[in-house]
Amino acid sequence: MPKDAAGHLTPGRISARLDVPQGIPRPEYVWKPAPARFTGSNVKNSDQIEKIRRAGRIAAQAIDLAGAAAVPGVSTDQLDKIVHEFVVSQGAYPSTLGYRNYPKSCCTSINEVICHGIPDDTVLEEGDIVNIDVTAYLDGFHGDSNKTFEVGQVSGRVHDLVERTREALQRGMSVVAPGREVNVIGRAIESYAKRFGYGVVRDFTGHGIGEAFHSGLIIPHYDTNVYADVMEVGMVFTIEPMLTLGTHTWDIWQDQWTILTKDKSITAQFEHTLVVTETGFDILTLP
Ligand code: MF3
Ligand code: CO
Ligand code: CO
Repeated sequence: MPKDAAGHLTPGRISARLDVPQGIPRPEYVWKPAPARFTGSNVKNSDQIEKIRRAGRIAAQAIDLAGAAAVPGVSTDQLDKIVHEFVVSQGAYPSTLGYRNYPKSCCTSINEVICHGIPDDTVLEEGDIVNIDVTAYLDGFHGDSNKTFEVGQVSGRVHDLVERTREALQRGMSVVAPGREVNVIGRAIESYAKRFGYGVVRDFTGHGIGEAFHSGLIIPHYDTNVYADVMEVGMVFTIEPMLTLGTHTWDIWQDQWTILTKDKSITAQFEHTLVVTETGFDILTLP
């Protein structure tokens, strides 16, 4: 069976917890069942935006470092170690570690895994794709980003999926402007993805972010009227479309985290944290 038809991933073994030096401040939710409810605003002042940008830069740099190591023969656990060590070396906390008891410092989602794959002893193979999703917490603020990397040479169909998912994030960002409803973002993404017959994941969304990892604000990646929050200058949120070669419906593994396409079709994702500006948007998760 060609590698782009359907994935065949099985859960691996998860290694012992990595620790974070005591001097690094941690989010309030760490190793609690759930975070505290966020009651603040999604609109940030310039001081807060710069803090999100500093956290976001660390996340982006960690992704690129781990992405460069994503070659055949490397395990996702090794990628997690690279992310973890870099993030803590910058004095930041890897936000996923202990978030609703999630055990690792990033998410690594291979092939048919839509999102939230847990790093384990699974070894990357030629032709795989792997998404690396990193959130860093620094000075009281989170920055969240992800990218999908090709492992060695991938099939043409999978390469196109990756590049068009990258473009879908660009298209979603390009319609961001004050005064518009956030649902314009999903409309832009889905109308682009539909040209290629791709599935557009609906049940995992972008989100407000800042002092909280997930603020409660929802950013849809599909065409809907439901999410009608009006964008304002200073509003900070993520856009993180997940596109598939097949269905948008999903299953979850017994680990209660790993989300995969129901038909095991290959899926890609890209994510940025951004702020709404007078003229459009500013990306806060650049290296
Ligand atoms: N970083 C992911 C997002 O984009 C969330 C991961 S939560 C985890 O929202 F617990 F699964 F790591
Ligand atoms: Co996110
Ligand atoms: Co993320």
